[in-house]
Amino acid sequence: MDIIRIPGEMRETAENLRRAGLRLGLVPTMGYFHEGHLSLIRRARAECDRVVVSVFVNPTQFGPGEDLGLYPRDFDRDCELAAAEGVDLLFAPAADDVYPPGYATYVDVERLTEGLCGASRPGHFRGVATVVAKLFNLCRPAVAYFGQKDYQQAQVIKRMAADLDFGLQVEVLPIVREPDGLAMSSRNQYLSVDERRQATCLYRALGRAAELFASGETGAERLAAEMRAVVEAEPAARLDYAAVVDANELTPRRRAAPGAVAVVAAFINDTRLIDNTILGTDDLKAGATAC
Ligand code: PAF
Repeated sequence: MDIIRIPGEMRETAENLRRAGLRLGLVPTMGYFHEGHLSLIRRARAECDRVVVSVFVNPTQFGPGEDLGLYPRDFDRDCELAAAEGVDLLFAPAADDVYPPGYATYVDVERLTEGLCGASRPGHFRGVATVVAKLFNLCRPAVAYFGQKDYQQAQVIKRMAADLDFGLQVEVLPIVREPDGLAMSSRNQYLSVDERRQATCLYRALGRAAELFASGETGAERLAAEMRAVVEAEPAARLDYAAVVDANELTPRRRAAPGAVAVVAAFINDTRLIDNTILGTDDLKAGATAC
C-alpha cells in the first residue's frame, strides 16, 4: 500500500490509473477505523480495480467548541488495517495542503443542509461538501463509498456530485452496529461505560418507531414523540432531534410510508451521536454487517 501525503501527487497518481483504464473506488474517512469503515473498504475492494482511502480530519466541518482537537486518531493502526484489507493507496494530506493560506472557496448545498444536523451544526455540511468535492477532484474515483449512518451527509454528497457533474457513482452502505445495536462511530470512544450503556437509547428509539410503524402507526408526530420518550428516559441523554423525513428531500413528513427515514440525534453528556432507520426495512438488525 502506498501512502500519499501531497495533493498534487494524489491527483497525478489517480490520473495515471484512470488513463490506464482502471476503475478507482474512493472511501473518504476521518480515520480511526472501525467495522463501518472496513465494510466500505471491502465493498470498494470487491467492485473496483484500485481502492483509495483518504484519512483526513477535516477542520472545516467542525464548528467552534466542537471536538476537532479531541477527535480520535491512530494513523499507524489505520495503515495496518487498510493494508490488511488490500487498500492500494492511502491519501493522508496535511490540513495546510488541503486549505493553504489564502484558501477561499467553499461548496454550499442548499435546502438539504437546512434541517436536522445542518440546523444543529451550522457550517458543518459546507465543510463536508467542500472537502469531499476536493477529494473527488484529487482522487478521480468512478465510485465513492459512504455509510448510511450519516444519512443526511450521504444525501448532500449525492446532490453535490450530481449538481456539479462529477460523473461518478455514490454508493451508500448499511449501518454497521455493535451487538447491542449501537451504530458504530469513532465518537463512541468518548463514552464512559455508563454512557456507552445509555447510548443504546438512539437504537432503541428507532426500534420503537420501526415497531410502531410495522403495527400500522403512520403518524410521523406520534413516531417522533415515541422516539423522544425513549431517548429522554436516559438521564445522560439530551435529545437534539427525532423525526420522520422524506428519504431524498429530508423534509418532515406528516405521514410515514415505507422508505421514509426515522432519524435521531442526541447528546450523551458531551458526546453527540446520530442514527437512523429506513422504515419498512429490517436495517436495524443488531450486529448486522454491511458485506
Ligand atoms: O463521514 C466522514 O467521515 C466525513 O464527514 C467525510 C465524509 C470523510 C468528510 O470529511
